[in-house]
Amino acid sequence: MLNEMKSRFAGKDVAVIGVGMTKFGELWKKSLRDIFVEASLKAIENSGVDHIDSMYVGTMSGGLFVGQEHIGAVMADYLGVAPIPATRVESACASGGAAFRQAYFEVASGHSEIVLAGGVEKMTDGADVTEALAAAADQEYEVYNGITFPGLYAMIARAHMHQYKTTREQLAHVAVKNHKNGSMNPNAQFRSPVTLEQVMKATMVADPLRLLDCSPVSDGGAAVIVCSVDYAKKLKKPYVKVVASAQASDTIALHSRESLTALKCVSVAADKAYKQAGLKPSDINFAEVHDCFTIAEIVVTEDLGFFEKGLGGAAAENGSTAIGGKIPINTSGGLKSKGHPVGATGVAQIIELYEQLTGNSGERQVKNAKYGLAQNMGGSGASCIIHILEAV
Ligand code: COA
Repeated sequence: MLNEMKSRFAGKDVAVIGVGMTKFGELWKKSLRDIFVEASLKAIENSGVDHIDSMYVGTMSGGLFVGQEHIGAVMADYLGVAPIPATRVESACASGGAAFRQAYFEVASGHSEIVLAGGVEKMTDGADVTEALAAAADQEYEVYNGITFPGLYAMIARAHMHQYKTTREQLAHVAVKNHKNGSMNPNAQFRSPVTLEQVMKATMVADPLRLLDCSPVSDGGAAVIVCSVDYAKKLKKPYVKVVASAQASDTIALHSRESLTALKCVSVAADKAYKQAGLKPSDINFAEVHDCFTIAEIVVTEDLGFFEKGLGGAAAENGSTAIGGKIPINTSGGLKSKGHPVGATGVAQIIELYEQLTGNSGERQVKNAKYGLAQNMGGSGASCIIHILEAV
């Protein structure tokens, strides 16, 4: 069965050979294109490639945030790589993961040798961010009735607390851990550790989620260079291998789901990814997951199979997800502390995997890491993209 699955994904072995990102945060002096170009030039320089054959750009809503569409062409122009093909990819907050997946396919298929996968968003330029983000939810049934993303995840949190006795403190433990990890990441938006008490007393946003349970509004860009493993070997630079790329979708609206406490898009994509890589959840040494709200990290770590259903909160509380724990989660600081410029997030997750797997994570290094998993989610779980990378 496993061999049958693996053979269905036959293609060239794919590598990530270079990475680059901007700091995440409020980048007042930089425009959308400046941010993308800065991240991309770093990735190109870091990889040692002398050209790219094509590029994909993950952006959730250049139009609503800064009035710019036709993002692929804009970025190819300003990066100075036109006329190569340049395509904008969108899957809400999973746009970056989707861009990386397209680059993976293009290289695996043999169509191109070197592809740049990038992601960018500029959210702090004055747009109504809550309204723009809500465009990724169900407009007719959810948004029309006044729901926002903090509101949607608050409902998931309430249901999880009811069904599994997950506590308010357990949610707070996710924020405390991720801020601690982010304090060691020079590119993170918030580098201050927070205490359990600060999280528990922070301003209420959508009950039970408080300010410190939420990912922030951020500007930022991230880019990676994807090429075949054969080509990567010739470049003689550190590289990691992509051993799985999987995607799944679910109902756009929460009320249509079988369960409010499980994210089916995550378990379905995870199952595909593990089969493709020939791995089990227990083989994964660390993961970057989509903690847009603290409850999301708890549900996702359960649906990835790292913990039994209902025990994700306890895992955050007892240190299993801390660096040095059973499976470190969000060593970068996650969306919570590193920031969440939505289109860039999925690519930034790949960067954290690359840095950990090449031993370049400094104080937040996970020891002896062989496999890292990145889980990027769109909306309240209507889309999910998972990649597994392997150290070579
Ligand atoms: N975590 C930690 N600190 C935060 C923060 C966050 N998520 N958001 C804002 N802050 C800080 C700011 O830096 C600021 O600090 P300062 O007073 O020391 O400068 C303070 O809190 C107030 O910031 P402000 O920008 O006025 O907050 P806000 O009330 O406008 O926004 C949220 C707060 C939580 C509503 C906003 O961050 C948000 O909408 N987050 C969710 C984004 C989202 O839904 N993403 C998509 C997920 S699917």
